[in-house]
Amino acid sequence: MAIISFNNITKNYKTGFRKKKTALRDFSLDIHEGEVFGFLGPNGAGKSTAIKLLLNLIFPTTGKAEILGRRVADREIKKLIGYLPENPYFYDYLNPIELLSFAGKTSGMDSLKIRKKTESLLNTVGLWSERKRAIRSYSKGMVQRVGLALALIHDPKVVILDEPMTGLDPIGRKQVIDLILKLKSEGKTVFFSSHILEDIERVCDRIGILVNGRLVRIMDIKSESLTRPLEEIFIEEVEKAGGARE
Ligand SMILES: Nc1ncnc2c1ncn2[C@@H]1O[C@H](COP(=O)(O)OP(=O)(O)OP(=O)(O)O)[C@@H](O)[C@H]1O
Ligand SMILES: [Mg+2]
Repeated sequence: MAIISFNNITKNYKTGFRKKKTALRDFSLDIHEGEVFGFLGPNGAGKSTAIKLLLNLIFPTTGKAEILGRRVADREIKKLIGYLPENPYFYDYLNPIELLSFAGKTSGMDSLKIRKKTESLLNTVGLWSERKRAIRSYSKGMVQRVGLALALIHDPKVVILDEPMTGLDPIGRKQVIDLILKLKSEGKTVFFSSHILEDIERVCDRIGILVNGRLVRIMDIKSESLTRPLEEIFIEEVEKAGGARE
């Protein structure tokens, strides 16, 4: 069974009177259990649209998305998903301990478990020493790190991250890579978008390239080792598909 599945999804946004923007066109993709899948595509390709559909934050015009064989509208699957949005925004008068504790309680975790998980996650994302500061005083990269911890507090089976490395320094990027590999070793399924090809190559089993809402290529980069730099393949696919924008 696919853990994440997009079935023939088309998504149109209304952009004005009788005007629409097609962000996804007949998009189908299956992500398998325990897989790390990297989602690539130029700005505006439709990556965040696909991700938001999985979280049921927006709805497809046609087609359907499923997680663990259930429609994404099913509230039960929310508990099994960890999500980092493209632009994370929090109650920023809280410090990360308070925020994670609040999120843990909302997910039905007990206090001891919350405390342990919070400490381990804040260490993993390099924020333990800053834990008592309100998030409002954090830098952009630090907020991104809080977002990652928040996505994982409830130990989700399926992890969906929209550009997790964005805004992070090289140490932060390495921490995210190690974190993704740790999640994989625990049997989690990870689906994430990124523009950082080097990181994608280091961590993914498969990648998909999206251009203008169409999935133009899927590559199994663990088994067919790349004979050419990913950047070259990426640029070629974007150009073949008619460039980044219509
Ligand atoms: N709410 C919206 N209303 C109208 N158009 C939208 C809306 N959200 C996204 N779009 C358009 O849909 C297309 C896909 O956007 P999306 O955010 O999914 O791209 P992306 O691949 O995540 O890009 P990036 O790499 O810049 O994050 C873009 O042309 C964008 O302008
Ligand atoms: Mg995006």
